[in-house]
Amino acid sequence: MKKRLGIILLFTSLFAGFIINWGYSYKKGLEEAYIPISDDFSAPIIPLEKGVFERSEYALAYLNMPIDKAHQRTLATYYNNRAYPGAPPSIPHPLVKGERGMGGKTCLQCHQNGGFAEQFQAYAPVTPHPEMINCRQCHVAQKESTVFKETTFFKTLAASVGNNNALPGSPPIIPHQIQMRENCLSCHAGPAAPKEIRVTHPDRINCRQCHVPEQEMISTAVFTRKIFTNDQ
Ligand code: HEC
Ligand code: HEC
Ligand code: HEC
Ligand code: HEC
Repeated sequence: MKKRLGIILLFTSLFAGFIINWGYSYKKGLEEAYIPISDDFSAPIIPLEKGVFERSEYALAYLNMPIDKAHQRTLATYYNNRAYPGAPPSIPHPLVKGERGMGGKTCLQCHQNGGFAEQFQAYAPVTPHPEMINCRQCHVAQKESTVFKETTFFKTLAASVGNNNALPGSPPIIPHQIQMRENCLSCHAGPAAPKEIRVTHPDRINCRQCHVPEQEMISTAVFTRKIFTNDQ
């Protein structure tokens, strides 16, 4: 009988302890503000996009840098190195002697943050994907600049630049896909950015706040572009 009473007493005190604790923490919870988090995101989530926020550490430097006209890249030189728009560019410079690895650190010493490389007399383009360390899995050294044999390979044309906005002064749509192009600043800012696409506002950080990828646009068939003049 004593043993049974003891067990009942133990469980009652445990239960009472639970109620007191629960009540205390419930009251504590009411004291603080909380953020209701919804998992109903309609915008696509792009893991690599964090790169653009990391790169914005250099945004003010990019904004204030003088332009080195003698070593600028153009879209023509940019595409010269690619089989088609979006293809991994070939490596146009000699590799480090005896380099047999996949690249990684060796490549990142110039391609992580860019900058002028004396030995190649050019600015190193910043890689949009420093976390993909097997560089030579996708980038191959360029040994020839012409094809061995004529082919019928059709190089799709790149999107045009400078006429991608609905109205004069409105933010142009992103005319290209954004897979592998999440890190906007790596191509659109800094001394290695092709001059036609160098952005006037690298410091605005959250690019997709204003620029919408073309694929996400709804039909604009009924929308006609108006050019406003002073007498309107
Ligand atoms: C000493 C610095 C340096 C190192 C190390 C280096 N690069 Fe480069 N890389 C450059 C420079 C400078 C350019 C630009 C060349 C030009 O515009 O003529 C370039 C261009 C490139 C390009 C062409 C980019 C484009 O947009 O056309 C690729 C791809 C590339 N490098 C890959 C690599 C890989 C992979 C490695 C490692 C195996 C590597 N690089 C190591 C300095 C370097
Ligand atoms: C999974 C394949 C893959 C790997 C691995 C990879 N790249 Fe790339 N890289 C690409 C593709 C594809 C592009 C072209 C993106 C585009 O134009 O849309 C590119 C573009 C680049 C560019 C040119 C950016 C510009 O200005 O257009 C550089 C520089 C570069 N990569 C360097 C590197 C370095 C350095 C590494 C290793 C740390 C690396 N890549 C690893 C596929 C890869
Ligand atoms: C690998 C390099 C690369 C990356 C990364 C990249 N772009 Fe581009 N972007 C280009 C090129 C090259 C063009 C010129 C059109 C073409 O060739 O597709 C361009 C064109 C554009 C244009 C049109 C400019 C005009 O004047 O019409 C906008 C806007 C743009 N990009 C926004 C973005 C945004 C926003 C991001 C990030 C989500 C981004 N880009 C990431 C290379 C890049
Ligand atoms: C607050 C809105 C806003 C944000 C954020 C923004 N842009 Fe823009 N962007 C614009 C507008 C507006 C224009 C058109 C400018 C004009 O016609 O004078 C533009 C133009 C451009 C162009 C065409 C060339 C130029 O500079 O005029 C590119 C490329 C571009 N933006 C890329 C980017 C990138 C990359 C980012 C992220 C660092 C970004 N934008 C962030 C509003 C924005």
